[in-house]
Amino acid sequence: MSTKELYIGLLSGTSVDAVDAVVVNLAPPTPALIATHSQPIAGRLRAAILKLCGGSAIGLQELGETHIELGEVFAQASMNLLEITGIAAEEILAIGSHGQTVWHEPNGDKPFTLQIGDANTIAERTGITTVSDFRGRDIAAGGQGAPLAPLLHHNRFASAHVSRAIINIGGISNITFLSPKTSAIAFDSGPGNVLMDWWTAKHKGRNFDKNGSWAREGKVHEELLASLQQDAYFTRRAPKSTGRELFNGAWLEAALKSLNKSVTPVDVQATLAQLTISSLVNALEGHGDVEEVYVCGGGAHNQTLMEGLTKALAPKKVTTTEALGIHPDWVEAIAFAWIAKQTIEGTAVDTSAYTGARAPAVLGAIYQG
Ligand SMILES: Nc1ncnc2c1ncn2[C@@H]1O[C@H](COP(=O)(O)OP(=O)(O)OP(=O)(O)O)[C@@H](O)[C@H]1O
Ligand SMILES: [Mg+2]
Repeated sequence: MSTKELYIGLLSGTSVDAVDAVVVNLAPPTPALIATHSQPIAGRLRAAILKLCGGSAIGLQELGETHIELGEVFAQASMNLLEITGIAAEEILAIGSHGQTVWHEPNGDKPFTLQIGDANTIAERTGITTVSDFRGRDIAAGGQGAPLAPLLHHNRFASAHVSRAIINIGGISNITFLSPKTSAIAFDSGPGNVLMDWWTAKHKGRNFDKNGSWAREGKVHEELLASLQQDAYFTRRAPKSTGRELFNGAWLEAALKSLNKSVTPVDVQATLAQLTISSLVNALEGHGDVEEVYVCGGGAHNQTLMEGLTKALAPKKVTTTEALGIHPDWVEAIAFAWIAKQTIEGTAVDTSAYTGARAPAVLGAIYQG
């Protein structure tokens, strides 16, 4: 049996902060992270992506050009990763490219999810077989299309003895419950960093609140928090998934307007951090048997979030996925490398407990290298 099955995983998430790129050895039994690279997304391209995510009317030319431009960035991220590591393109079995979600509408009359970042371009520039468009097949199979990373969480982080929750705090937060006794369950719990990022950009001119230090200076505004918590998403039953289509600046501004009280920007930030914490804690409380909680995603760097979760969930152990052997920054990118491997091997994956899909399916489309 070969001991090397190298795959690349590429991810640009809801935060549109960077392209996370990993080389991972997926030869059984345990995925091993070989190399990582974070490729910045230029301000102009980021603005074009955020415009698409904002749902404003734009021309097909702009959509097409952004799709191609992002495909070039994904290809470049892969090539930079290989250059850093000295690994030849021929050694990589495939790239799993999640793409950039610009719209996610799993509950409409005609459910769809749209990821851009042209995989033809990635395959052509790198010469590596590329798998992408994972979520569309899941939607076609009656699922939410998201979250999909729980497939890896289950494969990599489940224990035969203790029940665990894996929390990914990206732009949106998702939770995976892994119990030794019952089958895994997962769903998006609500906002992760996306609202805090938007508020920080608006008031501080920075893309995010480093370490959550601005949020820490503020005081939670209980009335605003209660009003934000009233959104029906929080009490909706799983399977459920969400994105910027719901949790965005306009959603926050509308709540602030209807509150009709002046709340200082720093207190709004503290309240948004608490919203992320409380929605995760409430979701966890619905699954009383969780013994250990592991956080991944950029939110693991936000000390205000981590301390708030630790305090609210005590005496449960709250730490990051580092304790389970994978640094929190790279779990999601590894997940898409892992799903690409399943696709290349023709293995149908069962997402029914995470997305509500009717039956297992081979996810994604393959672009030959
Ligand atoms: N040092 C830090 N302090 C506070 N927040 C951080 C720090 N580093 C990253 N973050 C937050 O994490 C976000 C990026 O997280 P991540 O890349 O996991 O999310 P994502 O790109 O939306 O991915 P996905 O949607 O797949 O979960 C940033 O936008 C920022 O809010
Ligand atoms: Mg990211």
